[in-house]
Amino acid sequence: MKIDILTVVPDLLTSPFSHSILKRAHDKGLLTVRVHNLRKWAINKHMQVDDYPFGGGAGMVLMPEPLANAIDELQQEGKYDEIIYMTPDGERFNQKAANQLSLKENLLIICGHYKGIDERIRQRYVTREISIGDYVLSGGELAAAVVVDAIGRLIPGVLSDETSALFDSFQDNLLAPPVYTRPADFRGDKVPDILTQGDPKKVEDWRHEQSLTRTKERRPDLLEE
Ligand code: ADE
Repeated sequence: MKIDILTVVPDLLTSPFSHSILKRAHDKGLLTVRVHNLRKWAINKHMQVDDYPFGGGAGMVLMPEPLANAIDELQQEGKYDEIIYMTPDGERFNQKAANQLSLKENLLIICGHYKGIDERIRQRYVTREISIGDYVLSGGELAAAVVVDAIGRLIPGVLSDETSALFDSFQDNLLAPPVYTRPADFRGDKVPDILTQGDPKKVEDWRHEQSLTRTKERRPDLLEE
């Protein structure tokens, strides 16, 4: 999968994709993330990419020309399956959206900054608008990192144990069960017997039951979906 990200603050995105699972995805040739500085397509020598909002009001708006020129140029390499704009008024990101997007080949993610991007770019180019939650970040960069991380680990072949993503929280609308590792007795707190008795069927049933209990207690809304 190839993911291009357009941003005015590329430095915010230098590290998140160079570690752990996403680094492995990159090293295995399964995921390429390219971060593009929107200022490369600035409209003048002052590197301008934003301007005051028509009608007044606080904050700056990313101008349509730099964004359109950037997208047009990037699209010359091939069309995107989705052009995603990160914005608090987008659809709420969840595991289902991550699953869907992990099956795509080419994504472009546009990060807003300041007051956002000119509406005409949303109408003309953007195919999907995503929010990572009901709060406002200073820009879309950290949100984009969240989305790329959630998608990247789902790309087939990225996780060494292919099945492990299947048991993540939210797959099947259930939270994950509790997990334990050694020692079996930590300061008197013991691991549930079932996990040390070596009966895989009983372990599976126990985990499912724990998932259900946890979901009922913490996120009953998931069970209603
Ligand atoms: N940009 C600013 N806030 C955001 C949010 N909550 N989700 C996605 N992009 C954003």
